[in-house]
Amino acid sequence: MQQSVYESPDRNLAMELVRATEAAAIRAVPFIGRGDKNAADKAAVDAMRKFLGTVDFDGVVVIGEGEKDQAPMLFNGEHVGTGNGPACDIAVDPIDGTSLTAAGRQNALSMIAVADRGSMLDASSVFYMDKIVTGPEGIGVVDIRKPIGENIRALAKAKGKPVEQMQIAVLDRPRHAQLIDDIRAAGAGTRLLLDGDVAGGINAARYETRIDMCVGTGGSPEGVATACAIKALGGLIQTRLAPKTDEERQRGIDAGLKMDHVYTADELVRSENTFFVATGVTDGGLVEGVRRKGPIIRTESIVLRSRSGTIRRVIADHLAEKWL
Ligand code: FBP
Repeated sequence: MQQSVYESPDRNLAMELVRATEAAAIRAVPFIGRGDKNAADKAAVDAMRKFLGTVDFDGVVVIGEGEKDQAPMLFNGEHVGTGNGPACDIAVDPIDGTSLTAAGRQNALSMIAVADRGSMLDASSVFYMDKIVTGPEGIGVVDIRKPIGENIRALAKAKGKPVEQMQIAVLDRPRHAQLIDDIRAAGAGTRLLLDGDVAGGINAARYETRIDMCVGTGGSPEGVATACAIKALGGLIQTRLAPKTDEERQRGIDAGLKMDHVYTADELVRSENTFFVATGVTDGGLVEGVRRKGPIIRTESIVLRSRSGTIRRVIADHLAEKWL
C-alpha cells in the first residue's frame, strides 16, 4: 500500500526551487519586448543560478543551457545547490520562450524540473522529439504510433466529449503543416503555440484547461522536463526521438539512445520522485507573467511534486525595492 502523505510528511524541495524560477522571471522583466533574447536569457540564468546556490541539495544539471564552452552558466554537468541533501538530476530552462520574451509575446516562463540522481534521460545528442501529451484519460488509449485522427477520436471517447470540442495544442511550425491539416480533418480544433511546448504539454494534462492534447515535434530537453511535470499530474506522455540527419541519428545511437522507440514517462524520468516548478515571465495559459503593482512585484508559479501528488499555485508579492 502507498504510504500516506499525512502519516509521513516530508520536505518538498520544489517549495524552495520556486524561489529560483521567481528570481529568473523577475530579472528577465526589463528585457521583455526589447528584441534581445540572449540578454533576457542571461539575466534569467544568472538569477536562477544564484538562487539555486542557496538550496540544500546536490544537483547535477542534466538538461541545461548547453555545453560548457557555449554556456558559461548552468551548463550540462554543472553542480548546483549547496551540495548538502538529496542527490538529484536537474533540468533548467531559465526562459522557455526566449523569443517570446524578446518580442513581448505571451507564454514565456521560467522552469526547473528535478528528479533522483541518474534518473533523467540525457537526450541532448538529438535536438528534437515527437511528443504526445494528454491527461490521465489518454493512458492506454492514445498511442504516438497511431494516426492523429485515431488518437483524437479515442481520447474524445475516453473523455466523453464530442470530437468537435477537442482542442489540440501544436507548435506553429512549417514542419507541422500536415499534422495541423490532419487534426482539423479529424474534426478537432488547433491551438497553435508560437513557442513553449512545456506549458502546452502541462496544459493538456491539467483538468481545468481547454487543451485536450499537445502533439508535435519539439525540443528533446523540453520533453524530459515535461515528463517530470506529467508524473506529478498523472497524465500521459509518449515521445520518439526525431533526428534531422543521419549524423544526428548516429550521434544519438552512440550516446545510447534508442531510435524509433517510444519513450514513456517512466523511461524519460526513471524516478517516482519528481518536482517541477514554473514561474510566468509573460502572461500565459499556465501562469500569469510578472506584474508590477505599486511597490510590489507579483509573480505566479506552479509547483508540482509527484510523490505527494500536489499541485500548488504560488502567488508571491515581492517588495520591488529589494530587487534593485
Ligand atoms: P527556448 O525559448 O528555450 O529556445 O525554447 C522554445 C521552444 O518553443 C520550446 O518550448 C520547444 O520545445 C522548442 O523551442 C521548439 O523548437 P523550434 O523553435 O526549433 O521549433
